[in-house]
Amino acid sequence: MNILGLSFFYHDAAATLLQDGMLIAAAEEERFSRLKHDSGYPLHAIRFCLESGKIQARDLDYVVFYEKPFVKFERILTTALHTAPRSLDLFARAMKNWLVDRLWIKNLLQRELGLDPGRILFSEHHLSHAASTFLCSPFDEAAVLTVDGVGEWATASSGVGKGNTIKIDREIRFPHSLGLLYSVFTAFLGFEVNEGEYKVMGMAPYGEPRYADKVEKLIHVDGDGSFRLDMDYFSYHYSPSQAFTAKFVDLFGPPREPESYFFTKSSGYPSYFGAKPANYDALVKRNEYYADIAASIQAVTEEILLKMVNALQRQTGQRRLCMAGGVALNSVANGRLLKETAFEEIYIQPAAGDSGAALGAALYAYHMILGQPRRFVMDHAYWGKGFDESAIHDTLAEQNICAESFTDEDKLLDRVVDGLSQGKVAGWFQGRFEWGPRALGHRSIIADPRREAMKDIVNTKIKFREPYRPFAPSVLENRAGEFFDLPEAERHFPNRFMLYVVDVKDKAKGQLPAITHVDGSARLQTVRPDTSPRYYRLIEKFGQATGVPVVLNTSFNLRGEPIVTSPADALKTFYNSGLDFLVLDNCIVTKEP
Ligand SMILES: [Fe+2]
Repeated sequence: MNILGLSFFYHDAAATLLQDGMLIAAAEEERFSRLKHDSGYPLHAIRFCLESGKIQARDLDYVVFYEKPFVKFERILTTALHTAPRSLDLFARAMKNWLVDRLWIKNLLQRELGLDPGRILFSEHHLSHAASTFLCSPFDEAAVLTVDGVGEWATASSGVGKGNTIKIDREIRFPHSLGLLYSVFTAFLGFEVNEGEYKVMGMAPYGEPRYADKVEKLIHVDGDGSFRLDMDYFSYHYSPSQAFTAKFVDLFGPPREPESYFFTKSSGYPSYFGAKPANYDALVKRNEYYADIAASIQAVTEEILLKMVNALQRQTGQRRLCMAGGVALNSVANGRLLKETAFEEIYIQPAAGDSGAALGAALYAYHMILGQPRRFVMDHAYWGKGFDESAIHDTLAEQNICAESFTDEDKLLDRVVDGLSQGKVAGWFQGRFEWGPRALGHRSIIADPRREAMKDIVNTKIKFREPYRPFAPSVLENRAGEFFDLPEAERHFPNRFMLYVVDVKDKAKGQLPAITHVDGSARLQTVRPDTSPRYYRLIEKFGQATGVPVVLNTSFNLRGEPIVTSPADALKTFYNSGLDFLVLDNCIVTKEP
């Protein structure tokens, strides 16, 4: 039984393949097309899935799309009618986009894949999210919560998953949306929506939630966790270009200039920003105001999620929770949900946003339509394309690059550990690439976390990121508790996917300055020997050499580009950056003559 799950035409397009209920492949289109957040028809990701399953499109039993286009179109039209004539632009744009292609997904899939219409199914957006988490979780029974910007009508839903089915019994509907509220502040703070939400989360610890009471004016939350926005402050339901109204600006002041440099007293002024501007003090003050706004929306979001999750726990009596939707990528909030609610275990899969709904669509069809029992638990993120040794050697030969090849893994890893402990920064490319937005040790840049200067060094060499983007640690799972406030890390899954932010233990803060954020927290990845054997051994060896079984891990890409996919992408990034050396499977490439 071959089932292809697809999501596209909105955020990150993706394809996944299930064979007899087991996941074979899952990838976002951007990794192949090299267009960040590519939302188009995922031609390359589909090809990759079919190749991985050793099948042709005609062998597909079902293709399942992650949402219902006609219902979504109905929501857009209804909203446009209710907000006319202000919605004229939105209406014109929607008609163009939807009538040209988005409504005709069934025809597109029939044409592209040569399938009978009866084999093409549609799932509901939030049910796809719910299925993407519960149906590949390790739990037989759990509460399920999905929270995002918007699907068809729902912006949040909850219920209970049992065995191979999920019963959703509550939902919150557009325009009331926690995800869209966060996105409005993302836009207000000068970041791109659907991309800059992490930046808001990283900026928050540089401020204080001084304006939480103002944010709370925008949203009313009931005791049962449901909420309503005061739509006088928002215009996203009728404007395609402006998310907030003049009333919002009256309350919070003018928005931050898009992508302007961010620095405060506590961040310092990074060397890669160049010379300090003449009006430095005034800019610091202004940035501190925006950091306070970021802290306020983050704090309010956390409090609302806590209320929603506590209410869900009371309503269901469950001790386990599965979450999905873009808001489930808020790793700071997730860390608090584990610590401060009665749920004892939480499951979130690494692509919790819309790309992951492609997986949910396929799981929904296999278990909930076809009634098949569950067989699959997603316990790692390595579902993308891999490149074998010969592919790597061919790429090196084509580009006339001389690399050192190792047959003895210990020698390879010793060399990497030597380089890292001397302060060098490495590109690290191993096995299949990761599913979801995080690099988890297969397409990573790694460095020594003990050096305070390493943040600046990595930023200068490759990332040119601003100080509010903390670097993450990868730590051996069985040693995580020594350095981070996450007892019994092996019991939990989200930390495998960098989905919890936790406190760095006091004694470790001085040891690990490059991965400790300004508020003393870290977004850790715990690494296991069964799912990431070579990465585990590398960190273990680094620990033996330095006393710290932790490396700094950031995604292997240049700013603004998707994470590298192929050896050729890795080499291009290596030569276009200040990386000191590159580990491509068993080979090490250096820039020395
Ligand atoms: Fe979504």
